[in-house]
Amino acid sequence: MKVQAARVDDIAEGTSKCVKLDGLRILLVKEKGEIFALENKCPHFGLSMEKGPISNGNITCPWHGSSFDVKTGANVDWVNSVAGIALPRWSQKLVAMGKEPQAVRTFPVTVENGSVFVNTA
Ligand code: FES
Repeated sequence: MKVQAARVDDIAEGTSKCVKLDGLRILLVKEKGEIFALENKCPHFGLSMEKGPISNGNITCPWHGSSFDVKTGANVDWVNSVAGIALPRWSQKLVAMGKEPQAVRTFPVTVENGSVFVNTA
């Protein structure tokens, strides 16, 4: 279902905005002027990525450092830190707690007359 989610101007460049649509927590991300929509549920522990930094087309989960491509949701890095403090490689698997790298769900976005629509179907 196509749902109006925000105004383009509500989201500053290089930041995200969390919205609830159709019972889903969705993160709208503006990267290089384009808006992307990802489920705001990190596939590691299901935590919010709202405060995660965005750069070079990726968002990094603020909890344990997993990174995802904002356009495709593909995982580009998996569990490498705790609250921003880098973990040595040997302990990364411990913090991952057996979870294997996974992509985050993404949703199609359209922009019409300055409004952002997300297709949640
Ligand atoms: S909850 Fe996101 S990396 Fe752990």
